[in-house]
Parts: sequence; C-alpha cells; structure tokens
Amino acid sequence: MTPISSIMILVTGGAGFIGSEVIRELTSAGLSVLAIDNFDPYYDPILKRHRWETVRNSSHVDFVEGSILDEKLMRQLFESNKFDGVINLAAMAGVRYSIEKPEKYISVNTLGSLRLLELMREFKVNNYVMASTSSLYAGCEMPFTEDSDVRFPLSPYASSKLGAETAAYTYNVNHGISVKVLRYFTVYGPAGRPDMSPFRFIEWVARGEKIQLYGDGKQSRDFTYVSDVAKATVSALQMQDSSFEIINIGGGAERTSILELIQLIEKNIGRKAHIDFLPKSPGDMLHTSANIDKANSILGWSPTTSVEEGIELTVSWHMANQDWLTKIDL
Ligand SMILES: NC(=O)c1ccc[n+]([C@@H]2O[C@H](COP(=O)([O-])OP(=O)(O)OC[C@H]3O[C@@H](n4cnc5c(N)ncnc54)[C@H](O)[C@@H]3O)[C@@H](O)[C@H]2O)c1
Repeated sequence: MTPISSIMILVTGGAGFIGSEVIRELTSAGLSVLAIDNFDPYYDPILKRHRWETVRNSSHVDFVEGSILDEKLMRQLFESNKFDGVINLAAMAGVRYSIEKPEKYISVNTLGSLRLLELMREFKVNNYVMASTSSLYAGCEMPFTEDSDVRFPLSPYASSKLGAETAAYTYNVNHGISVKVLRYFTVYGPAGRPDMSPFRFIEWVARGEKIQLYGDGKQSRDFTYVSDVAKATVSALQMQDSSFEIINIGGGAERTSILELIQLIEKNIGRKAHIDFLPKSPGDMLHTSANIDKANSILGWSPTTSVEEGIELTVSWHMANQDWLTKIDL
C-alpha cells in the first residue's frame, strides 16, 4: 500500500466526475486529501454519492459535505488544516443550464473561486490548480491554443470561468500564488455526467430509448478520457513553481463527431441506436480541437487513452451498473 504523506491537498468538487478521479490519482501518488462537495442537484446526486463511496472505500481521504460559498465552513477548514495546495474543481458545469441560471454560475464559479484564493492568500497556501474550459474558445480559430483571444465568451458558463481565470491571475501577480489553469476539453469516462453526450447516449441505447440529439450530429469534440485528465491535473499541482500558466488538456487526436461517437456506442453495446434530431442549442460550439503542445512541454503530459478504448471502458461501466443507472433522469 502507498504510504500516506503529510502533504495535504484540498480538492473542491470532490464528489464530481473529474474530482473523484483526481482524488484517486492524488492518493495513489501518496498525498492526503480533504475533499469538499455540496452534492449540488444540477444532476442526480446519486451519482455523486456513488463516486464518493468508491473513492472513500479505496483511498485515504477526508470528506466534508458543504459549499465553497459557505464562508464560515471554509474558514474553519483552512484554520484546522495545513493545506499544501488547492485543486478547485467545484463548479456549476454545463453550457445549456448556464443560459437558464447565469447567476448561479457566476456565484459558484467566479465568486467561489475568488473566496478560495482569498483564503489561500490569508493562510499562505501557495499552490492553486483550477478547472477551466474549452467553452472559452467558442468563436476562436482551431486548433485552439492557450493564447487565443477569449475575451468575448458566448455563454454564462464560459464567462464565469473567464472571471475565475482572471481572478487567479491577479493572485499570482499580487501575492505570488502559483496558478495553473487547466482548460479541459469534453471529458468522458466511467461514472460520468448525465448532462453530457457520452453518458446520455450510452444510457439511451442501453435502455432501448431514442437518442435526443441537438443538431445534425456532424458537430465534433476533442474527447478526453477522465483518467488522462486526472493525471494532467496532478502533474500541474506537482509543478510547484510560482508561475501563472494556462494549459489545454485535450484528447490530442483527430476530433470525433457525435455520429462517430454513436457508432462506437452501438458497436460496444451491440445494439442499433435510434435518433431524434432536434434543433441545435444556443451556446453550443460546432467543433472543438485542442492544441496540447504546452501540456506536453511543461507537464510532460499527453493522453494515453484513445476514444475507442475510452468508450469501451465507459460502456463496460454502464453495463455493470445498469441496475441503478436506469433510475437516473436523462
Ligand atoms: N467534464 C468536462 O468535460 C469539463 C470540461 C471543461 C471543464 N470542466 C470543469 O471541470 C470541473 C469538474 O467538472 P465535472 O465534469 O467533474 O463536473 P461535476 O458537476 O461532476 O463536478 C463538479 C462538482 O462540484 C460540486 N459543486 C457545485 N457547486 C458547489 C459548491 N458551491 N460547493 C461545493 N461543491 C460544489 C458539484 O456537486 C459537483 O460534484 C468543473 O470546474 C468544470 O467546469 C469539466
């Protein structure tokens, strides 16, 4: 068993899809973790409880149920623990819902990040990694590079993340906090998010229901497998310098169209998909494609899981958990 070190990392959004995988990666590197999550009901918290149970059973982690916006609770956490770093993954994620509830996005994603940075400054915690998003690149030329002009975000979600990125920059400049902003590209994998296409499409095909597809399916994504993303995140934490860096974390191969994704799902489940084509949603990007040269050069990271392998692993997880997954609304 890996020895547990005294290095303690605060992971926000620890019951989330990426958060739980990041915790596994941190603890297998021998680090101790305190995780916080409020089990926000944006999607069925049963999934968050499931992830949390699997992480808790296999790792050395403490967990606090609560909100990063709860100032009293957050202060108590910083007072009673000596954190060596913070990985901020807590967020309202998802472009479509952000158009309905913009205030919630700005509040959790931007204000929540700012409050964390303020506590880090006060308690002298100097290592910050935060999740940002490829959604910032809507309207930019592909493949997206970190220096693309992202000043004009097209959704409240992207705008809330841009606010969080710039807040982090000011804490790097004014207070010397090391900041690594990771712009993730369409993350998928086992125990994923039911608001994202891989999860929904697998479930619809497995349940024998029609896929609800916004657009014509020719839109494409730079799909990135969750354990690759978790490895990149821990590598960013381990850089331990005082720089501010924005780093794309993407699949790095040819992007995959939604229709190709459906074909892979059909192949792995062994059943034909039936599709309802619906109008494209506002705020949705047509294509995403990451330039990941920077992740490669400064983190020594590149993804190792192909979309074919990743979808096979994801479908297997869905098949093994169908008894309770069928209760989740899509
Ligand atoms: N999954 C992707 O494809 C993707 C792509 C780009 C960026 N991101 C970013 O990565 C991070 C993790 O995303 P994810 O896909 O794991 O989403 P997720 O929704 O599964 O995880 C986010 C977690 O944050 C928690 N949370 C929400 N508000 C909170 C609050 N006030 N206090 C404490 N916890 C709170 C939620 O309950 C959830 O468990 C997010 O910042 C997201 O914006 C994800």
